[in-house]
Amino acid sequence: MEVPSPSSSKSLIILYDAIRWEEKSLYEAAKRKGVQDCQLLDCKDFFVDLNQVNSDYEQKIVMQRSVSYFKSLHSTAALEGLGASIINPLNTAIVCGNKLFCHMILHKRNIKTPKSIAAFSEKSALEGLEWLGYPAIIKPTVGSWGRLIALLRDKYAARAVIEDRQHMFPLYHVYYLEEFVNRPPRDIRAIVVGDSIVAAIYRYSGNDEWKTNMALGGRAENCPITKDLEDICIRASKAVGGKVVGVDLMESDKDGLLVHEVNNTTEFKNTVKVTGVDIPGLIVEFACQQGK
Ligand SMILES: Nc1ncnc2c1ncn2[C@@H]1O[C@H](COP(=O)(O)OP(=O)(O)O)[C@@H](O)[C@H]1O
Ligand SMILES: [Mg+2]
Repeated sequence: MEVPSPSSSKSLIILYDAIRWEEKSLYEAAKRKGVQDCQLLDCKDFFVDLNQVNSDYEQKIVMQRSVSYFKSLHSTAALEGLGASIINPLNTAIVCGNKLFCHMILHKRNIKTPKSIAAFSEKSALEGLEWLGYPAIIKPTVGSWGRLIALLRDKYAARAVIEDRQHMFPLYHVYYLEEFVNRPPRDIRAIVVGDSIVAAIYRYSGNDEWKTNMALGGRAENCPITKDLEDICIRASKAVGGKVVGVDLMESDKDGLLVHEVNNTTEFKNTVKVTGVDIPGLIVEFACQQGK
């Protein structure tokens, strides 16, 4: 493949708040591919003049890699507002950063998702759960790595968890509840770059854990990319306007492939390790094509 260079005078920024394997590998890929102007930039190290006209940011392609939801979303808004091409764009970050928003967009595009309800009080959440049936799952609308996601086996567990949430920040009083999907002890993480699904893994849950997040001790294995998987992942990525996303899916025993999340700042270390696909290289090549 042709060695990419950012379009004409554009330069590449990898924006982060904590450097992980992913950010390092993106930087190394840029160097390896001969990208001259590539910078690793800590979003905590600069301020942005929000009133600039003809901003330098118009010449930048920014890979947004910040872990903090708030820093990521707001720095995306600032830099995109000043004309940067950003991966992923603000609208994608808004939708993907909130499980309820994402659910609604996927639903509108006829992409299968777990059966879910939203409720806005303790009482209606408990009534909704009777309707949805147990076991069910409660998820914060904003969150990752499986944090604060709880399995509600029955109404007693639900009452206890929901009562606790009442004492937390108001975001946690928005009740986003899902059916517990009957599935193998694994889910699927697929990486989509542009219009292509480039790799996928099965994530098996660790000992004593039902969630399959790698952050909770999950184990990864290569997942073959079938036509069905490709089709649903590309449709999910397009639904959220994604440029580089990680699509999370479950294999429901009654409904087939369901998308439960689209990640806009996806981790891919384990996917590279297990599949051998040069994901950072593909992302850098894709980034360099932006704004051409
Ligand atoms: N409805 C569900 N039924 C069964 N397991 C689920 C369900 N939703 C999530 N999980 C499990 O919990 C994990 C975390 O859920 P997810 O929605 O991806 O949140 P996070 O953003 O914290 O990763 C999933 O990877 C999956 O293993
Ligand atoms: Mg997830």
